[in-house]
Amino acid sequence: MTEFGRQLDIGPTDNTSDQRTPRKRLHLIPEQARSSFVPVAPARFTTRANEWDMTRISADRPRATGVPIEVTGVVQNENGTPVRKGLIEVWSANHFGRYRHAEDQSGLELDENFFGMGRVLTDNEGRYRFWTISPGAYLARPDIGRWRPKHIHLSVTGGSSRLITQMYFPDEPNNVSDPMAILMGDAFERNIGKPYDVSTRDIDQGFNFDITVGGKNATFFE
Ligand SMILES: [Fe+2]
Repeated sequence: MTEFGRQLDIGPTDNTSDQRTPRKRLHLIPEQARSSFVPVAPARFTTRANEWDMTRISADRPRATGVPIEVTGVVQNENGTPVRKGLIEVWSANHFGRYRHAEDQSGLELDENFFGMGRVLTDNEGRYRFWTISPGAYLARPDIGRWRPKHIHLSVTGGSSRLITQMYFPDEPNNVSDPMAILMGDAFERNIGKPYDVSTRDIDQGFNFDITVGGKNATFFE
């Protein structure tokens, strides 16, 4: 246990709150540094043409294994003002629950046709859209048998701010035992994508995920 900082008490399923808690006393940043302590981000983001479609690495490659889905939504502030030309970065596990990342040592199957990362910009109404493969759930804590339910990670960058959240899927058996769901309580509903039918033969199911930045109805951010 640490002497300073806050300890989130959400039981044995959380293996990271300890790592995220400061171990030493906090120090105030010097006055001169505070006045200029603003992260710098480019004013205009750009993405490549095919980054919105994560179901294929490129147009000439086969589609990745699994169920192709569409995710759409609006990014807005607490007053409903759209976040225009915001950058949304997306990453998720593949159909088998495996990340293409050095730290994923699960041994689950990699899909050579699934990169697992994409980027899109919001339009002038704050709307975004991307295609991906419905991700697999994965066993995050083999030592206590805790699964992470299907989820998609999203980073939202607008101006000089960046926030990271996750979209979950409805009616997943592991939702209730997920640490984020336990922390959020009833507000967890806001982070569940809402299914809708899509009228394209390329996509099996759509999910709406609106993101609210700030205010008392804000989307849960990590
Ligand atoms: Fe994840």
